[in-house]
Amino acid sequence: MAPLFSKTISMKKELKISDSEFTQLRDYIYDQSGIYIADNRKYLLENRLSNRLKHLNLKSFSEYYYYLQYDPNRKDEINRLFEVVTTNETSFFRNPPQLKVFQENVLPEVLDHIRKSPGKRLRVWSAGCSTGEEPYTVSIICSEVLRTELHSWDVKITANDLSERVLVSARRGLYNEYTLRTTPKPLVDRYFENSDGQFKIKPEAKKLVSFGQINLNDRMQVKRVERSQIIFCRNVIIYFDDEMKQRVINAFYDNLLPGGFLLIGHSESLHNISRAFKPVHFPGAIVYRKEE
Ligand SMILES: C[S@@+](CC[C@H](N)C(=O)[O-])C[C@H]1O[C@@H](n2cnc3c(N)ncnc32)[C@H](O)[C@@H]1O
Repeated sequence: MAPLFSKTISMKKELKISDSEFTQLRDYIYDQSGIYIADNRKYLLENRLSNRLKHLNLKSFSEYYYYLQYDPNRKDEINRLFEVVTTNETSFFRNPPQLKVFQENVLPEVLDHIRKSPGKRLRVWSAGCSTGEEPYTVSIICSEVLRTELHSWDVKITANDLSERVLVSARRGLYNEYTLRTTPKPLVDRYFENSDGQFKIKPEAKKLVSFGQINLNDRMQVKRVERSQIIFCRNVIIYFDDEMKQRVINAFYDNLLPGGFLLIGHSESLHNISRAFKPVHFPGAIVYRKEE
């Protein structure tokens, strides 16, 4: 009889991913989402997916790959897989210097431009919106800038993400204090209902935002997004390889109306990705303009 001891050891054994399994899964993730996992992050898949495989009672990463393609629950599993390989980290008023430029320069210029043409329609796209902090921040800033004029404007912020789970949370609009840590206190008081340390976004800020699932790797889905004057895509292209970055940035260029602006994350750059946009430098932020 085998000693109990050896059984305990084998139960604890982590599932290993072979080089060929890693390549197979990496290519699959890339085809599905445009998210590229470098060789030195092989451990990430192995560590983060091991428990998932055990939960599904699968014995190897090859079986998992098969499951992703043929199991009736494959759609849910693909979403879980995306969550494993991305981070949904976000917060309200993330990157304050850039948002100051948005509030004081970009938005007033865009609004002035719109005022010269008939119809006061402002369209902003938050691509990769995670749990909603970014589009709600944009909504708050638009409300602050337009103030009493807001009711006479048609403002819509389209907010998309790959992950259904983050969108469910975004639609709920309920947040903790930590995610509001860089939000000016008067704005927290004005735009949130505080109940027992939970902050609920008020309906007037919520109603400007419309959430939906979109995979930025899906050309047709991206093409269907209404054209905008401003696009926020911050801390998203960081997951993509250069080819996918180029594809996504070109799609943003096509979506933007002439004179529109693209805002990306502070650690991201369009260097070697696109020459179509004109970089506009401000203290603390660079924004990218589609020339008229
Ligand atoms: C780090 S969060 C950034 C959230 C927010 N933009 C911000 O800067 O605070 C990145 C988000 O991009 C989403 N994402 C990654 N790949 C995507 C894709 N192919 N299509 C749509 N969303 C994607 C992830 O699900 C995640 O919620």
